[in-house]
Amino acid sequence: MADNANTVTLEQVRAALATVQEPELRRDLVTLDMIKDLRVDGGQVNFTIVLTTPACPLKNVMERDARSALAKLAGVSGVEIRWDARVSGNARLGQVPMPARNVLAIASGKGGVGKSTVAVNVAVGLARAGAKVGLLDADIYGPNAPMMLGVSYRPLQANGKLVPASAHGVELFSMGFLVKNEQPIIWRGPMLDKAIRQFLTDVGWGDLDYLIVDMPPGTGDAQLTVSQAMSLVGVVIVTLPQEVSQADARRGLEGFRQMQVPVLGVVENMSYLTMPDGSRLDVFGQGGGRQLAQAAGVPFIGEVPIDPQVRVGGDSGVPVVVSHPESAPARALVAVAQDIAAKVSVANFMNQNNVISITEIG
Ligand SMILES: Nc1ncnc2c1ncn2[C@@H]1O[C@H](COP(=O)(O)OP(=O)(O)OP(=O)(O)O)[C@@H](O)[C@H]1O
Ligand SMILES: [Mg+2]
Repeated sequence: MADNANTVTLEQVRAALATVQEPELRRDLVTLDMIKDLRVDGGQVNFTIVLTTPACPLKNVMERDARSALAKLAGVSGVEIRWDARVSGNARLGQVPMPARNVLAIASGKGGVGKSTVAVNVAVGLARAGAKVGLLDADIYGPNAPMMLGVSYRPLQANGKLVPASAHGVELFSMGFLVKNEQPIIWRGPMLDKAIRQFLTDVGWGDLDYLIVDMPPGTGDAQLTVSQAMSLVGVVIVTLPQEVSQADARRGLEGFRQMQVPVLGVVENMSYLTMPDGSRLDVFGQGGGRQLAQAAGVPFIGEVPIDPQVRVGGDSGVPVVVSHPESAPARALVAVAQDIAAKVSVANFMNQNNVISITEIG
């Protein structure tokens, strides 16, 4: 008996970890097969937690819960947790080979609300967390992503495929690579459809966890093609706080719904300006993003403040999450990226397990 008090067994550790929940998936770490390389050496417990995304927002919660569960076991003298991630894939398999484990669109019914800014910073944010990320600039009318990522590029060909550019850890392809600067781009429906499909089939994307699609404004042919050509894990709708932007965003949102694309949630951009005295000025009104999310019955993902550094980041080719990672807008954009990654993991989990609603889990 005296001996037992000082040694802990693998089974005891496993049972303790089976009481720790993955907060988003609401199942325990053992059932979800997230514990790897578990070793118990005397009182020292070592293991790896394999996340469903490296950009997991609730890593700290899991670590805290695991440590407190193990602290209750007699005989545990030390705990070392390592982290790994295996990004789950979208199980809603489409007709075409998928260019990435997860393809998601950033859209809005309205122009100039910050779709490209959100897409670029989310892509770079996920890449900086350790994910393999591509960005497809599907704005064939006004491709802005190359400038926002500081890329000037003429695509090369390798093995019959167009090679994407690479910037800030993100693979990028854009119509901007194929047309001369300043040239207006006039598209007829079928040509547009063909061009977007070629981005998916003719570009040699690497082994991507996430492909983020930066959509053009509106609810037209491009939205239809992207939704039909790929099995999107979901779409994120960007809106401004004011009333008039909401109506357009709602139209955009409903358009994707009609095409059976799951809506992952709403991001409110340019939510407020932080004044020199620290107070908050609601330049464009307040709460529109939350209202839209509520009215449409989808999650609210987060708000991003107005900050000159965001615009400078876009114009200079160094996104704010890289140039000023500690700034309020960068933190907000990273939180948005993490929340999107978590929602993708949940969507995949639900699809793989045929769960209709998260409330049915555990
Ligand atoms: N939070 C912010 N703070 C300050 N400036 C911002 C913010 N978000 C976006 N901007 C700036 O607003 C402008 C429009 O943003 P962006 O190009 O991302 O919008 P968009 O919705 O993609 O536009 P389009 O419909 O033309 O594609 C850009 O100059 C960008 O730098
Ligand atoms: Mg744009």
